[in-house]
Amino acid sequence: MYKDDIVEILLTEEQIQEKIKELGEAISDEYRGKDLFLIGVLKGAVVFMADLIRHISLPLSFDFMAASSYGDSSQSSGRVRILKDLDDDVRDRDVLFIEDIIDTGLTLSYLTKVLKSRKPASLKVCALLNKPERREIEVKVDYTGFIIPDRFVVGYGLDYNERYRNAPFIYP
Ligand code: IMP
Ligand code: MG
Repeated sequence: MYKDDIVEILLTEEQIQEKIKELGEAISDEYRGKDLFLIGVLKGAVVFMADLIRHISLPLSFDFMAASSYGDSSQSSGRVRILKDLDDDVRDRDVLFIEDIIDTGLTLSYLTKVLKSRKPASLKVCALLNKPERREIEVKVDYTGFIIPDRFVVGYGLDYNERYRNAPFIYP
């Protein structure tokens, strides 16, 4: 199911779940009375988003976008392309982007630029993981789960060549 040679776990299932509960509570406080619309970035954010929405005690809706940045290697190509767009208009809605990880920042920077041009009421970002050392373009992350060092990690939605997304923990 997972890699055969797991020698180290960076974030355990318990650590991740505890953090998601905190994030969900903070988001619930901030968005009370608003028209919360979550946008998950496929495919990595799927697992995180599925858990996060169950800790947000507000009416909300969500959709997904897909963008290519990494291809199938562990090195960023620096190019971003939208592969799947939203089904509905975001105008006047309170948009919260859900990302698995902010690495170079190129994907997020591109997607937020596209979204801003569609005039949402507000636009914020929530990322489970953040690797600030790798940043190539400045991006504002409003909710961060964990700041991690510059290491390629998998599990909990994150893949290497599309594998290991199903692990409930995060490991190098
Ligand atoms: P960015 O555009 O460089 O910020 O890349 C963001 C995307 O790259 C994420 O949504 C992931 O799909 C992928 N990515 C970046 N770092 C990692 C990692 O350590 N493991 C797995 N995927 C990663
Ligand atoms: Mg990937």
